Amino acid sequence: MILCYEVEGGAYITAGESSGKIKKILKKLGVSPSIIRKVSVAMYEAEINMVIHANGGEIKTEITPEKIHIILKDDGPGIENIELAMTPGYSTASKEAREMGFGAGMGLVNMKKNTDFFQIHSEVGVGTTVELTVMLGQSCD
Ligand SMILES: Nc1ncnc2c1ncn2[C@@H]1O[C@H](COP(=O)(O)OP(=O)(O)OP(=O)(O)O)[C@@H](O)[C@H]1O
Ligand SMILES: [Mg+2]
Repeated sequence: MILCYEVEGGAYITAGESSGKIKKILKKLGVSPSIIRKVSVAMYEAEINMVIHANGGEIKTEITPEKIHIILKDDGPGIENIELAMTPGYSTASKEAREMGFGAGMGLVNMKKNTDFFQIHSEVGVGTTVELTVMLGQSCD
């Protein structure tokens, strides 16, 4: 199953809609709550980053019986130093984003922690692509 979403930049109010939809679908598919939680946390953080740090972007989600694979692509400012961006507490969030409760510098850390595969590619002035995979652990036995 392939599902695609568009995320609007700066749309704090609707931010998280796509991860909310995926959460519902996984629930209907009978995926365990602990795995749904991991997917939701990781996807929400990546989605929010596209809203607050880039000018929105596109999400492509592929769900198979074995895993969920999520690709989030934006054409925002990009990240100069990914290692630094991955440091817990590091944030360049704007005053406005901080006032909305974002900017703890924990999003990327949480993405890595809650996924089985995490990859981030970024080029300054071109954009950022985040790939997340979570194994769904479904089987007949
Ligand atoms: N899609 C993106 N485009 C440009 N910069 C990004 C993107 N995602 C992350 N960053 C950069 O990496 C930093 C760390 O991201 P991270 O999600 O860990 O923290 P945060 O978004 O600043 O705060 P939090 O997620 O805790 O609310 C950001 O502050 C920003 O500088
Ligand atoms: Mg973040």
